[in-house]
Amino acid sequence: MTEQTVVVVGGCGHVGLPLGIILAARTGNKIYLLDVDKTKVEQVNSGVMPFMEPGIDELLNEVIGKTAFATTSPECLREADVAITVVGTPVDKHLNPTVNALKSNVDEILEYLRDDSLLVLRSTVYPGVTKVIYDRVKQLGRNIDVAFCPERIAEGKALEELENLPQIISAFEPQALEKAKVLFEKIALKTIELSPLEAELAKLFTNCWRYLNFAISNEFYMLAETFGLDFYKIYGAVTEDYPRMKSFAKAGFAAGPCLLKDTLQLSAFANNNFFLGHSAMLVNEGLPNFIIQKMQHSMNLAERTVTILGMAFKGESDDPRESLSYKLKNLLEVYAKEVICTDPYVQDKSLVPLEEALRKADVIVLATPHKVYKEIKFAPNQTVIDCWGFFNRDDDNINPPSQAHVLELMH
Ligand SMILES: NC(=O)c1ccc[n+]([C@@H]2O[C@H](COP(=O)([O-])OP(=O)(O)OC[C@H]3O[C@@H](n4cnc5c(N)ncnc54)[C@H](O)[C@@H]3O)[C@@H](O)[C@H]2O)c1
Repeated sequence: MTEQTVVVVGGCGHVGLPLGIILAARTGNKIYLLDVDKTKVEQVNSGVMPFMEPGIDELLNEVIGKTAFATTSPECLREADVAITVVGTPVDKHLNPTVNALKSNVDEILEYLRDDSLLVLRSTVYPGVTKVIYDRVKQLGRNIDVAFCPERIAEGKALEELENLPQIISAFEPQALEKAKVLFEKIALKTIELSPLEAELAKLFTNCWRYLNFAISNEFYMLAETFGLDFYKIYGAVTEDYPRMKSFAKAGFAAGPCLLKDTLQLSAFANNNFFLGHSAMLVNEGLPNFIIQKMQHSMNLAERTVTILGMAFKGESDDPRESLSYKLKNLLEVYAKEVICTDPYVQDKSLVPLEEALRKADVIVLATPHKVYKEIKFAPNQTVIDCWGFFNRDDDNINPPSQAHVLELMH
C-alpha cells in the first residue's frame, strides 16, 4: 500500500492527538493534526502535549515535524486521502444530544476534501448520524466514501489501547469499509465489521455498560454506609477468591466527558425509555450529595473547613471536564465554613497547593484518587471521607461512622 495523507480533524484533542501520533509513528503515512485551537496547535508543534497521556510525549517528539504536523489551516484537507473527524459531540444544557457542530464540521471538511477520498467519523455519535452524513455527501453529489469507526480508548491509556484493542469499523458501501479496514489494520489489534447503526450502538453500549457498573457499586456503597457499615469490608469479602465478582468496581465519582453524556445519547435514542440509564445517572450524580449528607449527620459543617482532594474527573488525569469534584465543591459551598480545593495536575487558578490544603482542613474528602495522595499523613483530629477505598482503612480517622445517623436508623 502506498503512503497516504491523513488529516485528523480535532487533531489536538484527547482522542485526535493520540490517534494522530500513533498513525504518524506506525504507518508511514503523513499526518496532519488539524485543530481550531491555536494554542494547542503551537504546543503540539513544539513537542509539548496539551494534556496528560502517559507515554505519548516521547512518541510526539519522534514524529512531530517529520510525519506529523499540527495546523489550524484546513488547506491541508486538499492533500488528504483520508480525513478522520473526532470533534466533540456534547449534550446540550437540557441533556439532549447535539449534532449541529458535527454537521457543520463535516460541511467545512467537504469544502476541501477531494473526490475519491475517505471521510471517517470517529466521534461518539447519536445513532443514525452516520446515515445523515452519508446522505449529505450523496446529496452534494460528492464521490467521497464515508465510514464510522468509533474510538474506544480510555483517557490515560491511549498508547496501550490504540494498538491492543480491536477497532470496530462500519460503512454503507464495501469500498468505504475496505478503505477503513486498510487504514486501521495498520495500528489496531484487528478490525471488526458492523453496520453503521450497529457500530454507533456498540460504542454507546460500551460507555453505558461502564457507567451502569459504576452505578451498581455506588448504590451498594451508599446502601452499606447508610446502615453504618464499612462497604469495603463487604467488598473485600465478596471479591476475595470469588471470580464471578472480578468485575465489581470500587465505588467513586463516575464522571468525565463521556460516560454520562453517552448514556444520555442512548436514552434519547430509546425515546427516554432507558430506565437503567436514568437510574445510573441518579445514583452516580447523587454520590456527592450523599457524601455531604453523611458529613452533616456527624458534624456541623458551618464550623468546618473542608478540603477536596483531586479535581480531575479521574485519577492520574489533568482533565476536569464534567468532574464531580466541582459538583461536590459547589454543594459544599452552601453548607461549609470554607471549601478548599487542590489537585496536582489540573490547571485551575482557584486551586491551592496540597500542603496548604491539608494544613487548613478540618475535614478532607478524597474526590479523585491520584496516586500521590497515598503518601499523605493526616493529622489525628482530621476527618477523612474516602468513598474510593483508597486509604489505609485501619486509620481511625478514615470514614468514621456517623453514630448519630446509625442510631437514628436503628430506632
Ligand atoms: N475523551 C475520551 O476519553 C474519549 C474516548 C472515546 C471517544 N471520545 C469521543 O471523541 C470525541 C472527542 O472527544 P475529546 O475528549 O477528544 O474532545 P476534545 O475537546 O479533547 O477534542 C476535540 C478537539 O476538536 C477541536 N475542534 C473543535 N471543533 C473543531 C473544528 N471545527 N475543526 C477542527 N478542530 C476542532 C477542539 O479544539 C479540540 O482540540 C467525542 O465525541 C467523545 O465522545 C472521547
